[in-house]
Parts: sequence; C-alpha cells; structure tokens
Amino acid sequence: MRISVIGCGYLGAVHAAAMAELGHEVVGIDVDPLKIDTLAKGGAPFFEPGLTELLEQGIAAGRLSFSTDIEAARGASVHFIAVGTPQRPDGSADLGAVHAAMRAVLAVAAPGDLLVGKSTVPVGTAQALLPEVERTGAALAWNPEFLREGFAVRDSLEPDRLVYGVAPGDTRSAGVLDRVYAELLIAGSPRMVTDLATAELVKVAANAFLATKISFINAMAESSTRGSASEGGACRKTSAASSPGRTSSGSAPPSTSCATSTPSTCAAATGSWS
Ligand SMILES: NC(=O)c1ccc[n+]([C@@H]2O[C@H](COP(=O)([O-])OP(=O)(O)OC[C@H]3O[C@@H](n4cnc5c(N)ncnc54)[C@H](O)[C@@H]3O)[C@@H](O)[C@H]2O)c1
Repeated sequence: MRISVIGCGYLGAVHAAAMAELGHEVVGIDVDPLKIDTLAKGGAPFFEPGLTELLEQGIAAGRLSFSTDIEAARGASVHFIAVGTPQRPDGSADLGAVHAAMRAVLAVAAPGDLLVGKSTVPVGTAQALLPEVERTGAALAWNPEFLREGFAVRDSLEPDRLVYGVAPGDTRSAGVLDRVYAELLIAGSPRMVTDLATAELVKVAANAFLATKISFINAMAESSTRGSASEGGACRKTSAASSPGRTSSGSAPPSTSCATSTPSTCAAATGSWS
C-alpha cells in the first residue's frame, strides 16, 4: 500500500520506517527541513535502537522517502497524522499542528483515502474533525500509539495492542487498517475496534495510568525512606504483586478496577485484555 506519514518526529519517523519494513511504500513529510534532510540520508535525528538500520533498509529498498512538500503525499491511500500535540501553559493540548496537518493533507487526499490520527489528542478531537474530512470524500480513523522511547522500533513492529477508532457507520476503515498492519496481526498482535472517542480515551487513560503508577511508586519509595523499610525492596515487591503483562510503561500493570471507564477502554488502556 502507499502510505504517507505527516510529522516525522519521534513517533512519525519510527512509524514511517516501520511501515516501510512491513513492505509498504511510504513517504514521511515534515515541515522541518533539517529533520527531513537527516532522515532522507538514513540518519535518525534522535537515538533509538534499530532505527538507523530500519531507515537505511527502507531507503535502499526504494520503499521509504522523505519530503517537506505535502504534494508528495498525493497518491497515498492512507495518511497517518503523527504531529506533536504539546501542552499549553494552562495544561490543555495545543492542537494547532493537528489542524494544520489535516488541512494540508486534505488538499492532496483523494476521495476514498483514509486519514489516520496517531497523535495523542483530547477526547472529542476526531469527532470535531470528522465533518471537514468527510466533506472531501475521505474517511477518518484514530489509531493511538503506545510505543515507548528506547523500545520504539520493537514496539512498532511487535505492538502489544492495535486500537482502531472508527466513525459511526464506517464499515471500511478497520479493514483498511487491517491491510496496513496485516503482518503484525498474523504475528498475533491483538486488535480492538472502537468508536473514535474510545480510541482517544484509551491513549489518554494509558498515559494517566502510567503517571499514576509513577506517582504511586515514588510515594512508596518516599514512605519507605521515612520509615525503616528498604526502598528498593518495597518497590520491587509492590510490582511483583501486580498482574503480569506489558504496558506502555514497560512494567507490569497493578491489578486494578476501572470504575469510571468502560471495560473495553480499561482493558485496552492497561493492555491486559485477551
Ligand atoms: N514520542 C513518543 O514516545 C510518543 C508515544 C506515543 C504517542 N506520542 C504522541 O505522538 C505525537 C507526536 O509526538 P512526537 O514525540 O513524535 O513529537 P515530536 O515533537 O518529536 O514530532 C512532531 C513533529 O511534527 C512536525 N510537524 C509539526 N507541524 C507539522 C505539520 N503541519 N506538517 C508536518 N509536520 C509537522 C514537527 O516538525 C515535528 O517533527 C504527540 O501527540 C505525542 O503525544 C508520542
């Protein structure tokens, strides 16, 4: 398949290289000419084990290219949006790059193309973007990313979950994403199809859960230090008592119930559903 990846930062560069590794013809697009120049030469703009090799292989095979020109995305049938969503000083997400990337890609997308959001966004973002996308005859799905920096290549090629958020009545987009990720699905990566808002919530919930675990274990370490307990021992034993399985934090998720979330969101967020 022909794929474009808009935004070639940490997430986008790894995703573009991974998609080329899966056999797709991929163009990565970014507004940063220095980043694109580095990537086009097979260099990784940041350190990530295995990424340079993946970039070099994709470029040498003629399946991976990079450009600053959005016109290069014309002709792709799937367009991943992987731009940054930094936090504003008031804590809200700055969606300026998502809107700019969507507008740019819609100008070159053909009816029937699929736009796939990978950026982490507040719940409701995709639904708000939907009318603008559907007016052009394209479709919109949200496919959040759970890769861990330092394990990004492995997590992209052996994901512990694939979550597809699709619009109401959309019976086609999940099948398109299944073709994109066919090799990973055959290898056994679990995949879950939800509505757009649930897909967004799964990622936000996973981030919040990770932050909760870090805060909790820091608090445990602090109480251990104040008392006579061994800090390392208490932390290790707390982790060991929780259920096995990998999460986006790379550690075992504590057994938990999600009182405020649907079971599917809870399971996908913690990565523990079967
Ligand atoms: N880094 C991670 O480990 C990770 C993991 C999961 C999800 N995410 C999410 O993925 C998104 C991207 O994160 P990142 O770490 O790759 O950010 P990043 O800052 O490394 O990269 C964002 C890239 O988008 C580019 N960009 C901005 N506007 C653009 C536009 N209009 N057109 C094309 N390119 C544009 C920037 O130049 C930059 O290279 C965020 O929403 C983040 O929360 C990141």
